[in-house]
Amino acid sequence: MSRKYLIAGNWKMNKTASDAVDLIGEINSLVGDETSVQVCICPPFTSLSKASESVERSQLLLGAQDVNAASSGAYTGEISAEMLRELYVSFVILGHSERRQYYGETNQTVNKKILTAIENNLKPIYCIGETLEERESERTLEVVRTQVREGLENFPTSSIDSLVLAYEPVWAIGTGKTATDEMAQEVHAEIRSVLTEMFGETAAASIRILYGGSMKPENAAGLLAQEDVDGGLIGGASLTARAFVGIVEAARGA
Ligand code: 13P
Repeated sequence: MSRKYLIAGNWKMNKTASDAVDLIGEINSLVGDETSVQVCICPPFTSLSKASESVERSQLLLGAQDVNAASSGAYTGEISAEMLRELYVSFVILGHSERRQYYGETNQTVNKKILTAIENNLKPIYCIGETLEERESERTLEVVRTQVREGLENFPTSSIDSLVLAYEPVWAIGTGKTATDEMAQEVHAEIRSVLTEMFGETAAASIRILYGGSMKPENAAGLLAQEDVDGGLIGGASLTARAFVGIVEAARGA
């Protein structure tokens, strides 16, 4: 089963809308025309409108960093799937560890958002991963299994082509510490085995599983060479065009 690599930049709470236009311009010119790898940028909500104009007529895809589970209504400060779709947003990052840690998101609340995203033709990038404490107590595989099972409960098999997962070990995010190639492959293979139990072998073999956590041009090739690593979800290194496109190039060469 051949899975097209996806390199997605999670800008987190960085860049104003005008900064975003500049950065997208630089990324665009460095990425060029080759389309063997899918490239997506996920700026903050306030930049999405300008960003959607800037990615027009380019191969860059647009993602958001969250969506509300409800379709509309009295949810002050929240953003709906329909609002994102109008801005040509294709992907939405859901269940990121920062949202779990700082905003109380759980597998159950994220599950509702994933189902809403799918109903509205947004492709979820569902983030999972263990904390340092969980890794040290050898609970990584169990934690990740539960996150996959609970977060993807009732996910419709008919929409499996739209599903992306991202394994992001919490201890590797923004710390400069990266999982070794072997550590990443071990967990990715485990994730794919849970997906096989849930959705069957053919479906599981088609789902992309990204790695995230201090990925940069220097370590990207090794991680992307692993059998079950199908791309990257990039934080810090997605904020400069050269580093981000360096990772895209690593994926093109993998
Ligand atoms: P860093 O690449 O900065 O470690 O962040 C990873 C991440 O959280 C992407 O969602």
